[in-house]
Amino acid sequence: MYLELDGNGALYAQLTRALKAAILGGRVAAGARLPATRVLSRELDLSRNTVLAAYEQLHAEGFLVGKVGSGSYVAAIEAPRAPPIARVAPTAPVARYAKRAKEVFDRIIPGRQYKGLRYNLQYGAPLTNPALTSAWRRALAQASAHAEMDYPDPQGLAALRLQVCDYVARRRGIVATPDDVLIVSGTQQAFFLAAATLVEPGESVIIEDPHYRGMRQVFQAHGAKVETVGVDADGLITEQLPQRGARLVAVTPSHQFPAGAVMSLARRLELIEYAHSQRCWIIEDDYDGEFRYDAHPLAAMQSLDSHGRVIYIGSFSKTLFPSLRLGYMVLPPGLKQAFVAAKWFCDRGCPAIEQGALARFMADGGFERHLRDAAKTLKQRRTAMLAGLKRYAGGAVEVADSHAGMHLVAWLPGVTRPQCEKLIALAAERGLGLYSIEPYFLGRAPREGLLLGYASLPPADIEAAMRVFGACLADLGLSRRSAA
Ligand SMILES: Cc1ncc(COP(=O)(O)O)c(C=O)c1O
Repeated sequence: MYLELDGNGALYAQLTRALKAAILGGRVAAGARLPATRVLSRELDLSRNTVLAAYEQLHAEGFLVGKVGSGSYVAAIEAPRAPPIARVAPTAPVARYAKRAKEVFDRIIPGRQYKGLRYNLQYGAPLTNPALTSAWRRALAQASAHAEMDYPDPQGLAALRLQVCDYVARRRGIVATPDDVLIVSGTQQAFFLAAATLVEPGESVIIEDPHYRGMRQVFQAHGAKVETVGVDADGLITEQLPQRGARLVAVTPSHQFPAGAVMSLARRLELIEYAHSQRCWIIEDDYDGEFRYDAHPLAAMQSLDSHGRVIYIGSFSKTLFPSLRLGYMVLPPGLKQAFVAAKWFCDRGCPAIEQGALARFMADGGFERHLRDAAKTLKQRRTAMLAGLKRYAGGAVEVADSHAGMHLVAWLPGVTRPQCEKLIALAAERGLGLYSIEPYFLGRAPREGLLLGYASLPPADIEAAMRVFGACLADLGLSRRSAA
């Protein structure tokens, strides 16, 4: 416990004053247990009798409750609090990175916005599953019993990299060895490492429009010149790629985020050729490629790359849960050392216990079982949303259904921006969280639309949410826009 004695008078009186100041100043809260006298005497290099005398004094004055010797607790005293130390804005110069980061940072925590809404369709709110929680608890307990206490390999636990290779080969058609894999703390860190490793400030990074904000912000904060290329039903419009100067192109080919297109084979091959001829890199953000419904499984773009230009990123945020903060990169030959070094500088590697638990969970089949269950559940939720949209909002929305993932985009043809804002506000008043697609564009969205996440609500709630949505549309006179 940090206490400063003032050097005036008897030691027990100095200690009494220091403890009072700590209590009155709020540094030791009401109800907090003070250290045992033996412990404090050792820490402060005072005799135990001195500490005992100070504690007794504080008891006598009503600052402490409980019995000296069996635990002393700070009393709930109505005392004037010392004014907190003024928090002065730092005048010291910060790096350009800090200025840019502050500028582009808009933290959105799934479920927190509009907390308290009955039906929240926020994208990113996870699918929860009690069976997964118990399985994960068991995996963690076993992993912690066997964990190495030394720093983990910054590239990731070998056992987990092996499981990742097996998984991406089976599910995503990617041939890789554990040596090509880097375990990261989520896709977000993979973007960060890619910026640090591959892009000089001022260099050009191409992203899709619309796109995932977390990706764009990392490159903007890094100081890259972020440019966008549009998407259509075949994904990124490759013919619009700039003819020179791009350092990196970041795409979501399996399920364009958020608009939903699957990038066509022709475009995938064009993009790989482009990267080869421009000597730039491709980031393949495969954030939810595992969840495909009523459609053929799709191999990742990386599996087509014979030039070693694609950096593949996968995440456990959708397949398991986002608080896990684990993801993986499959790196082209030649990039590994730089990425592992950057990862080491960042955090010295992801936590070993979680990695160990995940490796076990994957090895014993628990992960596959969970994926099968999750896909079934998500499909039911998606079906409920599609049915609800058709039933309650059929005339007003144009649904971009991509047979994949955990969200849909409902475009609102003919709806103006103020009308869309009113719709969102009215829905919120009625307990429904709706979210505009606007923030996912670099500039203004070409038309109004909503990003509807369905992972976190059961089908009955989704149906009820769609009913509220339909009523809001009707009450604002927006029901039958596209019926003509
Ligand atoms: C397009 C896209 N990329 C990546 C991610 C995942 O990021 P992370 O692995 O950091 O949770 C998400 C999550 O919502 C996403 O939507």
